[in-house]
Amino acid sequence: MSSIWTASPDNVTRAADVLRAGRLIALPTETVYGLAADAANGEVVAQIYETKGRPRFNPLIVHVPDRAAAARIGEFSSTAVRLIEAFWPGALTLVLPLRADAPVAPLVTAGLDTVAIRCPAHEVARAVLRAFDGPFVAPSANRSGRISPTTAEHVASEFGDTVPVLDGGPCEIGLESTIVGLAGDHPTLLRPGAISHEVIEAVLGMKLAAPGDGISAPGMMTSHYAPQAKVRLEAEEPREGEILLGFGGSNGATLDLSPSGNLREAAAHLFAYLRQMDSMAKPIAVAPIPDEGLGAAINDRLKRAAAPRD
Ligand code: TXA
Ligand code: MG
Repeated sequence: MSSIWTASPDNVTRAADVLRAGRLIALPTETVYGLAADAANGEVVAQIYETKGRPRFNPLIVHVPDRAAAARIGEFSSTAVRLIEAFWPGALTLVLPLRADAPVAPLVTAGLDTVAIRCPAHEVARAVLRAFDGPFVAPSANRSGRISPTTAEHVASEFGDTVPVLDGGPCEIGLESTIVGLAGDHPTLLRPGAISHEVIEAVLGMKLAAPGDGISAPGMMTSHYAPQAKVRLEAEEPREGEILLGFGGSNGATLDLSPSGNLREAAAHLFAYLRQMDSMAKPIAVAPIPDEGLGAAINDRLKRAAAPRD
């Protein structure tokens, strides 16, 4: 009955198979337990938001086995190299410019052109990364608004039998990774966490900036990709000059988020389709999307895209 798996070599292999099959698996890291999914598979990434009950699409952290894997996803600066040498594997997440050819679904970064990457130190997380042979995303394995889990039992009490949990014992650190932003002019502390800012500053020989002053905090509206085009919501059909982003087989749609009306598929397409339509340089009308389950997160994002900007 229990969905808790001991972290034996066989179960590590099974966990990698679960990821490959496009399903979710919870697993230990040295910070907190993560809810892992194949970073390249937009639909299972959408399922993370659904399972966590996240009301909006916060970008997720891509977990990699080593520096070489990270270099295929983000652009390194000399500062990034210095921090990686000092703190990886470990509880430091770096936000880097996203490579155009990164093997990561657009929903992972919530459409941003930056990406958060971390190389965990926990041996079970590392064994799964090796067996899966690709990056996975892993937000903390709790329902939205609840406390981050530090044991397999915590995770099981969040999700019951719906998500298997690899049991690696209690997390050593029990606090999320520190996030440092390296995509702007100055290294920025985006989230305090397991590694103190003083230790990071000592390695860099400079102070970290605080979020704000043009650098946005994670999950904030301004940190998200905003289309240039005007966006009109709840459109039953396109008006003169508009292009329509459809849902569920809308008539006259230029692109349809999910012709069959599947919210998971719609979430997986959302950011890529918004960008594609924005490049057409016409006002965008968006068909109504049911405001239930993942639809709430999709509508939250669309409302931000449609909000007046200066
Ligand atoms: O310790 C951890 O980091 C854990 C374990 C499981 O690895 N994971 C974790 O993930 O805490 P999550 O999804 O709960 O937190 C991700 C944070 C969010 O605050 C998000 O806004 C930020 O990372 N983030 C992700 N991508 C970003 C980006 N491109 N720019 C700014 N912030 C980003
Ligand atoms: Mg969390």
